Amino acid sequence: MSTNIINFVYLISAVLFMLGIKNLSSPATAKFGNKLSMAGMLVAIAATLATGHMSYTMIIIAIAIGAGIGGYAAVKVEMTSMPEMVALFNGCGGAASALVAMSEFTGHTGAFAGFTMITLLLSVIIGGLTFTGSIIAYTKLQGIISTRPITYPFQQVVNAGIVLLTVILAYLVFQNPANTFAFCLIIILALALGVLAVIPIGGADMPVIVSLLNSYSGLAVSMTGFALNNNALIIVGSLVGASGLFLTKIMCDAMNRSLANVLFGAFGAVDDSVVEDGEGPAGSMKGFDVEDVAIAVENAESVIIVPGYGMAAAQAQHVTRELGDYLMEEGIEVRYAIHSVAGRMPGHMNVLLAEADVSYDQLFAMEDINDDFSTTDVVLVIGANDVVNPAAKTNPSSPIYGMPVLDVELARTVVVLKRSMNVGFAGIENELFFKDNTMMLFGDAKDSIQKLLAAVKE
Ligand code: TAP
Repeated sequence: MSTNIINFVYLISAVLFMLGIKNLSSPATAKFGNKLSMAGMLVAIAATLATGHMSYTMIIIAIAIGAGIGGYAAVKVEMTSMPEMVALFNGCGGAASALVAMSEFTGHTGAFAGFTMITLLLSVIIGGLTFTGSIIAYTKLQGIISTRPITYPFQQVVNAGIVLLTVILAYLVFQNPANTFAFCLIIILALALGVLAVIPIGGADMPVIVSLLNSYSGLAVSMTGFALNNNALIIVGSLVGASGLFLTKIMCDAMNRSLANVLFGAFGAVDDSVVEDGEGPAGSMKGFDVEDVAIAVENAESVIIVPGYGMAAAQAQHVTRELGDYLMEEGIEVRYAIHSVAGRMPGHMNVLLAEADVSYDQLFAMEDINDDFSTTDVVLVIGANDVVNPAAKTNPSSPIYGMPVLDVELARTVVVLKRSMNVGFAGIENELFFKDNTMMLFGDAKDSIQKLLAAVKE
């Protein structure tokens, strides 16, 4: 097929990807967005196959293996393990770009154009570090290695030294492409850099790092596209690179942290100062029975449900929806307040509530519902902790100070469902649990809501 036609088809696939990403920005259109992106990928694969000059047997074997693993993972992997799966996908993307660039470098006869050489080297470096960085992110998220930041003296100096050495070696290879020794060293250093850059980052910051690595994998793909002169790779790689970077920024903004703080701040290292100093929040914590909570809920005219990581961990989304539906049947206004970094991955709560068939018009982003807490009768905080911690507004020494949080404490009654007084992701105490209008309902969220539903029905 002619190059012009193939490039035109690539353009169609790029438009489908862009429309796909646009539709992913709302839960109501996300499924359609996914389908558009899938169609874009199919069109791009078909156009690539139509270029010819390839061993179709090998391609079919590779597609069968890749589709088999991808299909199995898509069906089997739990929603809560999505960050791990995305980390592996990013790693594969980085590795694929680096391998293609390596094979282009080693299999090439004759001189490279200067620009091609630069893009090949960038593809190997970025792809290599994305691969090992993603593997470390995966092992941290899975708990295979310690989720604590691994730090040592002069860590950033060592990392900066490796970057500098890699740049010098890349210059040597650029000057003399026959210098395979330097090229091999670049590969080793890139792989090492991925490991060394990710180990000082705490396990709970991994979703941000996965998003950043996603952006890197896109960058590596687009560099490979320049080296191979393939427009689809250039466009799609840039799309992934840009959207990954935006998502990283959105997550950092929602946590009120800079990217530098996430990358170099070793967030999640031991910080027990609040507990050790005995400076717990004033007031006393009050545990309640399901029956007491049921009375408060039944007598409410308005209820706001605030889901957090604990709802995901307990898989309580379905029973939460059942409770919400029942209360609405009883004439109570029920809404859901969604904090953008509740849970452990972007859109975590939206995905779970959508899976449980909660109507989209009941979901409210923090900025759209925060003013309504003061006129709400009951707030049910289901497994959320940091995103409802008033310390973010009142305690300048708190690690989450400045992070926008849900103003749940302004409601008439706040019911907090969790298993214990344990801290959340940020590792800090929550003064909300000690406030006069807070009722603590201890237990696994799914179990507690099941009992609460039974109690309000009685
Ligand atoms: P967290 O602050 O992590 O608190 C979750 C709470 O859920 C814990 O205090 C835990 O208390 C409770 N819990 C765990 N399992 C439970 C179960 N089975 N039943 C009932 N409760 C359970 O969660 P959050 O409020 O959603 O905040 C999210 C945090 O993650 C934020 O600090 C955010 O910055 C961070 N983060 C989020 C993202 C994204 S993209 N969402 C990315 C990186 C970091 P018990 O152990 O006492 O039950």
